[in-house]
Amino acid sequence: MTSFATHSALRHHWHAVARSSELLASPVAVDLLTQRLVVWRADGGAVAAAMDRCPHREAPLSAGTVRNGCIECPYHGWMFAGDGACVSIPSSGAGAPIPPKARLNSVHCAERYGLVWLCLDEPLAGIPDMPWDDDPAYRRLNNPVERWHCATTRMVDNFLDYSHFPYVHRGSFGGATDAEVPRMELQPLPDGFHGYEYDVVAANAVGEAAGASGQTTVTVSRHMSTGWVLPFAVRSTIEYQTGLHHILLLLSTPIDDDHSYFTFVVWRNDEFATPGDEVLRLDRLIGSEDKFMLERVLGTLPLDATTLVSVQSDKASVEWKRQLRTLLTGPPTPGD
Ligand code: FES
Ligand code: FE
Repeated sequence: MTSFATHSALRHHWHAVARSSELLASPVAVDLLTQRLVVWRADGGAVAAAMDRCPHREAPLSAGTVRNGCIECPYHGWMFAGDGACVSIPSSGAGAPIPPKARLNSVHCAERYGLVWLCLDEPLAGIPDMPWDDDPAYRRLNNPVERWHCATTRMVDNFLDYSHFPYVHRGSFGGATDAEVPRMELQPLPDGFHGYEYDVVAANAVGEAAGASGQTTVTVSRHMSTGWVLPFAVRSTIEYQTGLHHILLLLSTPIDDDHSYFTFVVWRNDEFATPGDEVLRLDRLIGSEDKFMLERVLGTLPLDATTLVSVQSDKASVEWKRQLRTLLTGPPTPGD
């Protein structure tokens, strides 16, 4: 596969590209599936998004300004409303007709879980459902959207894999984890995810871990589930013996074949006692360990079943790759 980031099937799915809190007074440029887009807060506070190219002389609108919910092109001052319609061409004078083609190529956008999501074509699926977001017993903690120099496929493969814990995460929670991975059974998980459940003993000695687990013992036992929703959303749920739940939504978005956005959102029922930054320190450290490894693994992940060697601990990744192949190319025809 030469390029997966330009695959048309991915244009029909939602991708997280920015934090809602980034959209203040100025437009924001984002890159998605090799396209440059502009995102801004339009009239009434709703998020608007369009290709970052003015229909007049192709100036980047992201270098412009937002005024009264409209985006003003920095080149000749044409103004565009949230639906992409041009509402003002200063050089033509007030009341002059607006050419019908003077409109932006708008794309679908939504805000969910403190994030801005874009879909470049008609959506064929929803944004993953995270029911904890409506549960007052849980708080939501957001993180910055980072740019990683690695393929989105490599990231999802990593997030579905726990045989790397004792190696990549030796410096955080992986030091106490058994290298042998028990046989995993893939199963439907709640809320449309698909994956597996497992038990893990995690190192808890570093200061970062205590903030997340709420315990000060040397190790902690976690009951976990890890699953995916196509194309690239991965959810991990962690249940500590104290009853503390810590849920992570790991979101990877293709910028192009070799670059991705990464962010994660956490929900937890911890009575909001520990400051959010303290809670997230462990997950941020874990993320930086994955990033260190993945930015050294070049190119996209081969999605076919035979190029790489896989073992039983790769079962989830192998199945996710099979489903992703089907999403990208359609179901196999008899004889394939
Ligand atoms: Fe945008 Fe001219 S290029 S107004
Ligand atoms: Fe990891």
